[in-house]
Amino acid sequence: MANLATLFTVLLSLLCYSQTGFALVQWPGGTSTRFYDFKVQTMRVTKLCNTKEIVTINGMFPGPVVYAQEDDRVIVKVTNETPYNTTIHWHGIRQRLSCWSDGPSYITQCPIQAGQTFTYEFTIVKQKGTLLWHAHVSWLRGTVYGAIVVYPKTGVPYPFKYPYEEHIIILGEYWLQDLVQLERQVLASGGGPPPANAFTINGHPGPNYNCSKNDVYKIDVVPGKTYLLRVINAGLNMENFFAIAHHKLTIVEVDAEYTKPFTTDRVMLGPGQTINVLVTTDQPIGKYSMAMGAYMSAKGVQFQNISAIAYFQYLGAVPSSIALPAQLPSFNDNLAVKTVMDGLRSLNPVNVPKEIDTNLFYTIGLNVQKCRSKTPKNNCQATNNGVMAASMNNISFIKPNISLLEAYYKKINGYYTEDFPDVPLKFYDFVNGAPNNIPNDTQALNGTRTKVLEYGTRVQLILQDTGIVSTENHPIHLHGYSFYVVGYGTGNYDPQTADFNLVDPPYMNTIGVPVGGWAAIRFVADNPGVWFMHCHLEIHLSWGLSMVFIVKNGHGELETLPHPPADLPQC
Ligand code: C2O
Repeated sequence: MANLATLFTVLLSLLCYSQTGFALVQWPGGTSTRFYDFKVQTMRVTKLCNTKEIVTINGMFPGPVVYAQEDDRVIVKVTNETPYNTTIHWHGIRQRLSCWSDGPSYITQCPIQAGQTFTYEFTIVKQKGTLLWHAHVSWLRGTVYGAIVVYPKTGVPYPFKYPYEEHIIILGEYWLQDLVQLERQVLASGGGPPPANAFTINGHPGPNYNCSKNDVYKIDVVPGKTYLLRVINAGLNMENFFAIAHHKLTIVEVDAEYTKPFTTDRVMLGPGQTINVLVTTDQPIGKYSMAMGAYMSAKGVQFQNISAIAYFQYLGAVPSSIALPAQLPSFNDNLAVKTVMDGLRSLNPVNVPKEIDTNLFYTIGLNVQKCRSKTPKNNCQATNNGVMAASMNNISFIKPNISLLEAYYKKINGYYTEDFPDVPLKFYDFVNGAPNNIPNDTQALNGTRTKVLEYGTRVQLILQDTGIVSTENHPIHLHGYSFYVVGYGTGNYDPQTADFNLVDPPYMNTIGVPVGGWAAIRFVADNPGVWFMHCHLEIHLSWGLSMVFIVKNGHGELETLPHPPADLPQC
């Protein structure tokens, strides 16, 4: 993969060389155009001594890597050859004036149905680094995912020493059950999901799991070199630690934005997050483990506590030798998470809004709703015979059955409202004394509620965790934008004591809001469209931990969402 990547860069340089003289046009039209053909297919795989059909792209698991350069146009033709409804989301791509190609089902498009085709088209405007793509319908993304690698423009170096080789490391979760069925079953039960049967690194569980001694990913390395690892968490329902035995990781980029180099023994990634790290092979010749383990900050949740292992193997090491074990933090080591977060600082000068037009305060958390089923034993398996839900500002999002973007664009009434509140309807001690659902009566309301923003609004949003069921770190993802993480802390957000970094905050698309704490983000709403914001733990998304921003057009062509593509799928 690494050699291919290098070769690819060289080819890119050759291909693009003749074009570097062009002036940058303002419309996001792209420098070069990259075409990809994605066939959504089922494939039989055997893992953990079990054979099943999984959904893949082009029969690859993980799926194909989308390579591009900053400012390129990317065109991906997606053909659905499975019986399942499909969409693909380009996670972290800011989709400048291309909301139609964003991909979340029932938000920006109807699913691509069996036998149908849809072509995604977007320009990677002022973005470079590692991102991921994944299915954005039911739980299909459990196997339908892959990396996006965006190289700097030709002649623009990395802001760190050129690595000897680059490797992609995609963390995943593997289930023996069919994922579409599993989501249905879990939602019908009213209770929580079972843990994954295994964690995986580039699709391989590694030797800690049954029947997986030889189902291990391996990177061969030579001593005395520096490697760039593009680490991606594509898991469904877990946040994870990642570490390499005896090796330091130097973080240089997060969510496709450069950071000041920060050296650590381990990183934590929530699903949807990407971290580029440099690793120097400065240890004695040997075979070292790369490990992916659980980070579970909520109380009373079952999770997979066996680590996935891959090998980081020096040239000259005895292949049959035992791999040196990696030290992962314990599953509830919140301090380890904070330490990494404290180290994330933007490398380059930032453009963080200093004045704010709209102040928003959204609580995030789970709920236990009253049982309304006639068969509570089957359908109300949450605590106190309730039904699990999740919400923002105590409003549980109901997915519409048409595309919201289409409804908005074509002014079709009746599918959503514009009354998502700027603050919760009720303030109380959000985080102390969890679980605090009974004394505070925090039954969630339901609705497809949106928050409308005028073009160019400078937004500050406080995300506040709640302990209605249990406090928990939630990876909150915003579509269509990156945002500056200007502050975070534990406890209830208090503007008097909150400490903000307006100098070099990281620019991210997914923020792990600290367990029992808060995070403050800022962005300028200058990309018109309908943009989903949600917890990237898939079960929380299924339970309603999401909302939608509608960003209106500004003035003129460069501030206006174009017409929908002709092949936009119908519901
Ligand atoms: Cu990576 Cu809406 O998701």
